[in-house]
Amino acid sequence: MIRIAGLKKSFQDGDQRHDVLCGVDLDIAAGDFVALVGRSGSGKSTLLHCLAGIECADAGTIHIEEVEITSLDEAARTRLRRDRIGIVFQFFHLLPGLTVLENVELPAQLRGDRSTELRARAEALLEEVQLGERKLHFPDRLSGGEQQRVAIARALINDPALILADEPTGNLDAETADAILDLFRRIREKHGVTILMVTHSAAAAAVATRTARLVEGIIEGATPPQVIEGTDEGEGADEIAEAVDEAIDEPPEEGAGEEAEEAETPSTSDTPGGVRASARATELLNHAATGTEDATVPEDSEKDS
Ligand SMILES: Nc1ncnc2c1ncn2[C@@H]1O[C@H](COP(=O)(O)OP(=O)(O)O)[C@@H](O)[C@H]1O
Ligand SMILES: [Mg+2]
Repeated sequence: MIRIAGLKKSFQDGDQRHDVLCGVDLDIAAGDFVALVGRSGSGKSTLLHCLAGIECADAGTIHIEEVEITSLDEAARTRLRRDRIGIVFQFFHLLPGLTVLENVELPAQLRGDRSTELRARAEALLEEVQLGERKLHFPDRLSGGEQQRVAIARALINDPALILADEPTGNLDAETADAILDLFRRIREKHGVTILMVTHSAAAAAVATRTARLVEGIIEGATPPQVIEGTDEGEGADEIAEAVDEAIDEPPEEGAGEEAEEAETPSTSDTPGGVRASARATELLNHAATGTEDATVPEDSEKDS
């Protein structure tokens, strides 16, 4: 399903080079639920961003479902991300100007889905995360845990093979976090989706089927990867910014939510790296939510229903 081999990534910090990923090897089987752990700043988000194709590695390869994403151009990576990957963030990143239902439908609409079943599909996903009755509310009316459930429904709308979650319980109280973890466990069972979740929480790691630990730029105790053939995928350019400009009335407000503290799960958002990661996450979402040439929200989607 996922094969990461020899992945390296450095950042330039002034005249200093900071080696973050130093040869990451990791195989993840279809249907695995992997908890990615490691201390703050160890490169977990960077690895996730490489997997999502938003960050380019300096060396090494990533195969997702036999496609070598490290060899794709940006447009093809955007398409792959849009079609095969669902992303869940610590700070939810719902679009405040859209209802809960519209937030869930958005990634499908941006992919050009004009099917009449889309609404029913989004409603079914909202039922699945037990928010059917809140579908016409705007995100600011929802608690943090509820917003995260919407984000999980949104991540599932395009029927992804892989869900990448970056500290999805890091901004929730312990009880709400447990409910979110249980939801991840259930969607994995129901949808057969592979999950890679970055987490600080022991409870989160306990729900996963495997734990991978990032230490000094490598995965501790990783099994050696096998080499598979990459396939070529896609061509052409995707316009990214337009649809998001249309869809986002205001930038998402980070950390807005009453349930912002959990003692055992420190947020990284107050560190410089955390702030950068957060900005990156917004960018990631924008990319995740867009990427077709006709990637505009249909006119008839404006607060109807
Ligand atoms: N875009 C970037 N530019 C420069 N440095 C970065 C960038 N993204 C991450 N880093 C640095 O890489 C290191 C790993 O960051 P990150 O992947 O966010 O760690 P983690 O998610 O494990 O806390 C940190 O030192 C961080 O400051
Ligand atoms: Mg991080």
